[in-house]
Amino acid sequence: MSDLHDLCRFAERPITSKYVDQLNFYLRSGIPATYTIEEAYNYTNDIAAEPTTTTTPLHLICTHVPENATAEELKVVDTMVQTLFEYGAGWCLSDVNNDTPGCILIKRKLNHLNIYTQIVDSGVRAELLLRKVGEFDMEIIEDTDDLDHDRFGEVPELVEEKAEQIEQPKSDEKPDPEESNKSNQQSYLNTKLEYVDNALITKDRKDGVMMAWETDLMRLGCESLFKGSIIEDNEEDSEINILNIGFGMGIIDTMINEKNPTKHYICEAHPDVLAKLKADGWYDKKNVVILEGRWQEQLDKLLSSGEVYFNGIYYDTFSEHYSDMLELFDYVVGLLKPYGVFSFFNGLGADRQVVYEVYKKLSELDLANYGLQCTFTSVEVPKETLQENDKSVWDDVKRSYWSCPVYYHPEARFIDL
Ligand SMILES: C[S@@+](CC[C@H](N)C(=O)[O-])C[C@H]1O[C@@H](n2cnc3c(N)ncnc32)[C@H](O)[C@@H]1O
Repeated sequence: MSDLHDLCRFAERPITSKYVDQLNFYLRSGIPATYTIEEAYNYTNDIAAEPTTTTTPLHLICTHVPENATAEELKVVDTMVQTLFEYGAGWCLSDVNNDTPGCILIKRKLNHLNIYTQIVDSGVRAELLLRKVGEFDMEIIEDTDDLDHDRFGEVPELVEEKAEQIEQPKSDEKPDPEESNKSNQQSYLNTKLEYVDNALITKDRKDGVMMAWETDLMRLGCESLFKGSIIEDNEEDSEINILNIGFGMGIIDTMINEKNPTKHYICEAHPDVLAKLKADGWYDKKNVVILEGRWQEQLDKLLSSGEVYFNGIYYDTFSEHYSDMLELFDYVVGLLKPYGVFSFFNGLGADRQVVYEVYKKLSELDLANYGLQCTFTSVEVPKETLQENDKSVWDDVKRSYWSCPVYYHPEARFIDL
């Protein structure tokens, strides 16, 4: 423990501006904002090894900010956190319990504090910055390997979506992000799938591609899509076209088809899922059009043909990343009718609540850049999805892709409509 770490434990009350002065003094003296307890321990005990966990001053603040802090004290704590971020504190470094500072506040039920919002905002800024660095392939620091390989740096085990864990060949070369996304997808598309009770899973690794616990979330998605069939003054469009990307278990498609839209397009890439669509008679339904293949190719053709525009578009795939979704937005704005609705399975970062909140803000910002205003409805998820229960939906599945108590259901429409 160093003096900087001691300071962040708030041993002395009340917490006054002296804390900020002291913090500024340490940081200006050159102590990094990310200086960890582990590094301090190793330094004191002459240990050369690189520590594997990172308990930073921000972790300590989140652990020790008093529950009974007054409004004045909280203002001081806010300024301390702001100062740490100005000096480069990391929002997603993890401590010995694998907790980020935000996770600690959630565990302490203190995520209503402004310092939690600061952490989430810092996550959004970091993601936007990393994206720019990736876009221009900027070599702004000597070793950018971490930035290239892992968009969220130190967040361990970050699951961005329903991401499968199929082994990739190792290579020393820096991957082109677009190419590496494609090859991830190809591995998934070559993987055998299996429909079991209440789930679609990968045959070998038992990763959940789709699970029945999401049925209520799919219902919300379906309801949102049909909201896009109302033009104005409750007048219904004469032609209602819906596009769903990713068939999976066909849960949302069954709901959509029961509402009998004029045209129901389904885009699906996996051969085993396409076989299921065939076996279950989806190809024979009059209003259904199946787009066989990846949406990246299929929607391009659809957009160029100008044959159809949609009242609702839903996106729920597997083994794709947020960068894919950003590419999808180009097609969404091209294919959506002016009063149409875009929605998606919002599992972005959902294996860690604070990351989930970062993605919520980020997707809202990104959609706004495309002229789409996204609103989120908070919905409680079934208790069986939370692993602290005796019986959970993940019992027979290799790895969970969900561990948040609340689902943020997204609904996006063109701004000003
Ligand atoms: C999570 S499931 C969809 C579940 C669906 N919402 C339901 O209600 O059952 C994801 C589906 O997306 C498909 N998929 C993955 N990547 C795709 C892509 N690039 N284009 C089209 N389909 C894709 C997968 O094969 C899988 O069937």
